[in-house]
Amino acid sequence: MRKILVTGGTGYIGSHTAIELINQGYQPLLIDNLSNSKMDRLDQIEKITGVRPEFEKIEMCDGEQMKELFSRHQDIEAVIHFAAVLQVGESVEKPLFYYRNNLVSTLNLLDSMNGSGIRPIVFSSSCTVYGNPDTLPVTENAPVKEAVSPYGNTKKMCEDIIRDSTISTTIQAISLRYFNPIGNHLSALIGEEPHGEPTHLVPYLTQTARGIRPHLNIFGNDYNTPDGTCLRDYIHVVDLAKAHIAAIERLLDNKQDKNYEVFNIGTGIGYSVLEMVQAFEKATGMPVPFKFAPRRSGDVEAVYADTHAAEKSLGWKAELGLEDMFRSAWEWEQTLEHHS
Ligand code: UD1
Repeated sequence: MRKILVTGGTGYIGSHTAIELINQGYQPLLIDNLSNSKMDRLDQIEKITGVRPEFEKIEMCDGEQMKELFSRHQDIEAVIHFAAVLQVGESVEKPLFYYRNNLVSTLNLLDSMNGSGIRPIVFSSSCTVYGNPDTLPVTENAPVKEAVSPYGNTKKMCEDIIRDSTISTTIQAISLRYFNPIGNHLSALIGEEPHGEPTHLVPYLTQTARGIRPHLNIFGNDYNTPDGTCLRDYIHVVDLAKAHIAAIERLLDNKQDKNYEVFNIGTGIGYSVLEMVQAFEKATGMPVPFKFAPRRSGDVEAVYADTHAAEKSLGWKAELGLEDMFRSAWEWEQTLEHHS
């Protein structure tokens, strides 16, 4: 079995990807510093797949720990790099922490890969690099805009670092630019666990439906969109996880056209916040009280993906729709016990 290192492997997208790797016959080695996830993810992955993935608690910002990891596991064939701190608001408060954490961990990873002769890496990037795009749907050729937050900037900077390292080393990379990942594994055993008041739309929706929040604030209803609320491309996390398998196989099979490639990972459909509320109510039968609130600073008006490149080159296409996303998110919400 081919061993794939998954950094941030116990996190929301990392653990869903670990499941898909196991389902496809790979041997994931998960590493995480457990700053934003717990070891019990391993139990849940085992319950779902019947396989307990190998795990090591690693601080990726410590170069020595990374070197030792790679010398202990000389059979790693490829890397999927998720590990990062990722709260937009927090990144504005603690920019140096964000830059240090997300950049140093990536540099250490690339150094270790290079030292061990490991070529393939799939990087977890974001549509945030497009900012407010000039044309929609947005293609991979759209210009990268100045980031609105240090978090967004770390995604752009890591893309640049990875791209540049493919020029002079043997590293070959694919950056996947995710649109808005939502939903959970259909078993409702794993999912996103927001700390405190959620900032993302779907956890806020599910907590409001559950009565934990009195109402959802819809940030802005005066945008230049059909109903005045922002448009986003929401993608089921299980579809997103599968895109990583397609990307890693493209690299392992040497099918890439260039040493560094970028693909949008979305559904290609833009839904408004109001449409999301209505679709959630329809999928779950749960009413969601909402109020219109002022625009949130840093929000872009509309962004959704052109997915043709991923379809053509990765042979990947999103299969799950909003109903699957909301049903799974709602089932997951009802398993959560603590909210503050
Ligand atoms: C957010 C991040 C983005 C990151 C992405 C994936 C911000 C500003 N952006 O995208 O950098 O790449 O997640 O992790 O955090 N909304 C409401 N009420 C709410 C919450 C959200 O109306 O209580 C609206 C937002 O204005 C937006 C949409 O819902 O139009 C989606 O918001 P959210 O889930 O936070 O994702 P993004 O902001 O698109």
